[in-house]
Amino acid sequence: MNIQNLMVTGGCGFIGSNFIRYLLGRADFTGRIINVDTLTYAGNPDNLKGIENDYPDRYLFERADICDLGRMEEIFSRHGIDAVCHFAAESHVDRSIKDPGAFIYTNIVGTFNLLEAARAHAEGFVLFHHISTDEVYGSLGPEGLFTETTPYSPNSPYSAAKASSDHLVRAYGATYGLPITVSNCSNNYGNYQFPEKLIPLIVLNAKEGEKLPVYGDGRNVRDWLYVEDHCDAIWTIMRSGRRGETYNIGGNMEMENITIVEMICDILDEIEGLSTGAPRRDLITFVKDRPGHDRRYAIDFTKLREELGWMPSESFESGIRKTISWYLENSEWVRRVKNNEYHSWISKQYGE
Ligand code: NAD
Ligand code: TYD
Repeated sequence: MNIQNLMVTGGCGFIGSNFIRYLLGRADFTGRIINVDTLTYAGNPDNLKGIENDYPDRYLFERADICDLGRMEEIFSRHGIDAVCHFAAESHVDRSIKDPGAFIYTNIVGTFNLLEAARAHAEGFVLFHHISTDEVYGSLGPEGLFTETTPYSPNSPYSAAKASSDHLVRAYGATYGLPITVSNCSNNYGNYQFPEKLIPLIVLNAKEGEKLPVYGDGRNVRDWLYVEDHCDAIWTIMRSGRRGETYNIGGNMEMENITIVEMICDILDEIEGLSTGAPRRDLITFVKDRPGHDRRYAIDFTKLREELGWMPSESFESGIRKTISWYLENSEWVRRVKNNEYHSWISKQYGE
């Protein structure tokens, strides 16, 4: 597969920015990356600081909304886009419960626009890879795992919108012969994650000695994957996955939320105790449950392992320690994110 001009959507977000760094560092990718991101609250140019200087001929940023079909078509034409890796989405379940509208536009209409732009530039088009979530499969009981053939049963506006986008991508493959692949991954954690998601939120609150909100009884289970392992799985699928296929990606790391929160408390106490001398576990506060809260997610990624030989390489114990250290060492990033400072940079840059 020879990609010359890869459009990465949502490249200023958490996983997208990790993916851009990962890919530009690989010897088996020699093309250019065109990062298309509209810079919502979750899109942070700081996540890719220095990348334009490090790769002046291979990295380009286009501030654009994937809901704008005209802009997408224009970017496809101008840059000769021959592949897409599509991350851009509204990604937080709690926000989707409060305000679902943006999830419908970005996740569904935005994906449709990109598919239309790809269809209009089908000649020489190599691959449309769509990034999705295990949440499309709904919730598991105490037993069992999601496989690629588990029926879709999304429970939140976020997962319902992602499910819809998955179907559209598959349909464009089947109907128009667009070369597509889809990956459905479990919960990611690692550097540059916006601190509204469980792990960075708990790390930063616990560091400051603030309350640690745990929804319901804290016994909901998620499967966790270190973000760099996710990036590696995506590139493996893009390189060698069968066109038209879906691959599940997981970390073999099922954990109850409360266990993760306690682990973070203990690691931070080990690094530096609170000035009060109290253990951070005392900060844990059980709060009202999320409506429609999925009880358990767990992934069977046998297909990816057996067909393409991919396995996660980071253990949760080492990955969470690396992540905590990153948030402690990058206090300037944290400060700017918390104060929304990069938004004033965006306003200056784009004259808003
Ligand atoms: P994120 O919220 O950190 O980043 C999303 C990015 O998309 C931001 O940079 C934002 O500015 C951009 N964006 C949003 N709307 C846009 C629009 N209309 N046009 C252009 N850009 C837009 O998200 P993330 O956690 O990095 O997730 C990336 C993808 O991975 C999503 O598709 C998500 O569904 C999927 N996913 C995430 C996880 C996870 O644990 N975070 C797990 C599995 C799958
Ligand atoms: P989250 O990081 O929002 O990811 P997702 O909902 O996509 O799985 O939440 C992970 C789990 O942690 C989920 O079961 C909800 C729970 N949670 C809390 O208990 N407290 C919190 O403050 C947050 C943000 C999440």
